[in-house]
Order: sequence, then structure tokens, then C-alpha cells
Amino acid sequence: MTVYAIIGGTGLTQLEGLTIRQSLPMSTPYGEPSGEVQLGEFAGREVMFLARHGHPHRLPPHKINYRANLWALKQAGAQAILAVNAVGGIHPDMGTGHFCVPHDLVDYTSGREHTFFAEDLEQVIHIDFSRPYSQVLRQRLIDALHAEGSTFSDFGVYGCTQGPRLETAAEIVRLERDGCDVVGMTGMPEAALARELGLNYACLALVVNPAAGKSPSVITMPEIDQALQNGMGTVKSVLARVLSAA
Ligand code: HPA
Repeated sequence: MTVYAIIGGTGLTQLEGLTIRQSLPMSTPYGEPSGEVQLGEFAGREVMFLARHGHPHRLPPHKINYRANLWALKQAGAQAILAVNAVGGIHPDMGTGHFCVPHDLVDYTSGREHTFFAEDLEQVIHIDFSRPYSQVLRQRLIDALHAEGSTFSDFGVYGCTQGPRLETAAEIVRLERDGCDVVGMTGMPEAALARELGLNYACLALVVNPAAGKSPSVITMPEIDQALQNGMGTVKSVLARVLSAA
């Protein structure tokens, strides 16, 4: 049976309903992960959980040690990763509260440790990344969202920006021109590192605000927090459905 790990993003620093059997403080050759890897039972199944930003939420997107996080999950035995990410909506159908299961991404980040193949190796390794997300896992998320009756898109290009500031309206116009449907700050290098380690990976993105310039008002943290609160119940139900069906 596939061993699943959930990486919880903003609004999901704790997986309610997870009966924790063990909390593993892990150290890796790349430093410390964001927190302990929790092993336990969720939806009747063994699963791992890691809070991407730590618990409580303390690490901004550009300070997350993505390499340590992925390495720790792999070391703990994970084979498949369900990543939860809060995003801004760019596509006109992707308003606040909408879910998106991205099929592709564009990476706009800079200066992050983004590969396990950074050192001098005998052979340079170039992973194939034409399709960054696992189609099998994506389909499981799509089926679960469907069963849940959520409003969602079974496609989407995730534009990953550096943050921690939000984008300018012109940057969002550029992302849109590039084909991005949603924008977030934590999708990369996480997805690429998962691929380097041979872990299947898919993203469940919850739109928590219209991206910059997509609404007449400014983006506020209370607005984002409210959308997270409203959406997290569905996130947990969707994850539970995926795990009990897989
Ligand atoms: N931009 C980037 N990241 C985000 C946003 C956004 O508008 N909303 C949530 N994460």
C-alpha cells in the first residue's frame, strides 16, 4: 500500500483528525525540516503529516527548508505526497473558495535551495519535469473534490512567486500572459525536489483571494484568513476521501 504524506500549508499547520502515533524530530544532511514528521492514522489509514511553515506558522515561504522537508518525508518512508497550498486566483473562474488541482507550473522563485543535485557529481542529473504533478494523484484529488461537491477546476497552471510580498497588478498580468491560473509562493521548489527523490506529488490548491489587480480592493490578511477558515473543512474531507479510497 502506498505510503502517503500530507504537506500542510497556511491554514493547515495541524491535521485535525490525525491520531498521532509518533512525532519524529528529523535532521537531514540539508538541515532541519519545518517541524516534526507526524506519523499516525487519518481516515482509517497510516499517513504522515508535515506542516510546511511549522506549527505554529512561523516560516515565510522563502525561508522554508524545502530540501530538508522532502528528504525527511522520504527518510520516514513516504512514497506519495499530497501538498496543500493557499493561492491567489488569476483565472476568471477561480475566485475565493474555489479549488484547483494544477496540472502544470511556472517557477518565478529565486535564490532558494532547489535541488539535491547541487554538489559536484560524477554525472550531471537532469530530471524530466515536463509534467510536474502525478496524474494518478491528481485524479484522486479530482475524484474526491467531485464527490465532495466542491467548486473546483481539474486543471490549472500554478505560478510560484518568491514572496513574501504579494504581487503587483502588472506582475499578475504577466503571469496571466504566461498562462498561469493561480499564484502561490510555496509550490516550488517543493514539486521539483519531490521528483528528484522519486516521490509522486500533487497539489490541492485553495484560492484564498483574487490575485493582485483582479478585484478593485486591496488584498488583506483578514480576508485571506477568513477564506482559509472557510475552506479548510473541505480540504480535510477531500484528503480523507483520497486516503480512504486509495
Ligand atoms: N499571491 C501569492 N501567493 C499567495 C496569494 C497571492 O495572491 N494568495 C495566497 N498565496
